[in-house]
Amino acid sequence: MTDIKVTKSQGSRIGNVDWNNLRFGVYFSDHIFVADYIGGKWGDFRIEPYGQMPMEPSLCTLHYGQSIFEGLKAFPDQNGGVNIFRPMMNAKRLNHSASRLCIPEFDENILIEGIEKLVELDKQWIPKAEGCSLYIRPVVYGSGNFLGVHASDTYRLIVMTSPVASYYPEGLNPVKILVTSDYVRVVRGGLGSAKTAANYAASLLGGMKAKEHGYAQVLWLDAISREYIDEVGAMNIMFVIDDTLVTPPLDQGTILAGVTRDTVLALAREWGIKVAERRIAITEIIEAHRNGYLKEVFGTGTAAVISPVGLLNYKDQDMIINNGEIGELSKKFYQTITGIQTGKVEDNHKWNNHINIEL
Ligand code: COI
Repeated sequence: MTDIKVTKSQGSRIGNVDWNNLRFGVYFSDHIFVADYIGGKWGDFRIEPYGQMPMEPSLCTLHYGQSIFEGLKAFPDQNGGVNIFRPMMNAKRLNHSASRLCIPEFDENILIEGIEKLVELDKQWIPKAEGCSLYIRPVVYGSGNFLGVHASDTYRLIVMTSPVASYYPEGLNPVKILVTSDYVRVVRGGLGSAKTAANYAASLLGGMKAKEHGYAQVLWLDAISREYIDEVGAMNIMFVIDDTLVTPPLDQGTILAGVTRDTVLALAREWGIKVAERRIAITEIIEAHRNGYLKEVFGTGTAAVISPVGLLNYKDQDMIINNGEIGELSKKFYQTITGIQTGKVEDNHKWNNHINIEL
């Protein structure tokens, strides 16, 4: 057990929450888990009230973006208690991102302990409604104050939580996605496999233009040939081509190793579905669509869960997928994964970290 000092907030802000209109990432729970890296080690593990944090104008992360983050979720278990879904995968990925951004690694077990304590303390913030959850957002950033371009000597880890509904306003209804070759998000040898602020900054302009034209998000192509599919940015992408579930591979270093991606692939293999992790040219998708082999397209992500894609637009040509309706397989993945997370489906894989608390 790690020594985590708890300072409770004076009064709660929970009364401000509109539980019938949660949306994504709008409300923040009463407490945060914090730790500092000073003098070459992580320490001063503590839980504090959520609130403003003092900052100097020379904070290096503001200037050079030495910042990484994660996203995971806690759910009420219908049989009692709370499930946090696959937190060790997120903790390991945080350290993968840390190594790419020259940030010192954080003990994975202490991170999970801090998260569990935080969730327990703010348990009344866990939404009960179907399709909702408590989103958990760990962030690590350089906390040094200087202007030279180099890695910080000091860092801060913060974990905040937020009661959320579905990421897209469409919910489980299919979204429209724009395939762009005007902008690129990441390059090989770059930051693509790290969950870091820069990747999201790079996606903003393309994303904004896509939204102006009625698309929920952008599907990014590789930065060199602008031919091969990478990911959507807020989620990985999967295609059902004929009888095979196809998704871009991790070995190019340009996409995030998604926890939901891994979960879907594991379930698909168990269900006897053919799976291929391989490069996919956008021309292959156009061809499969033209010939009637493109059965389903969906995104996978912690925030998005399973997000069916009803339309892809590439170079002003629309591809309508499955008549713009959610596909059978997308539905089955959604029901199985959310079922495991909420205790409705047996957790054979031990994916849930169960906390035995009364809600
Ligand atoms: C997640 O799925 O947890 C993400 O981080 C995606 C997005 C909200 C940044």
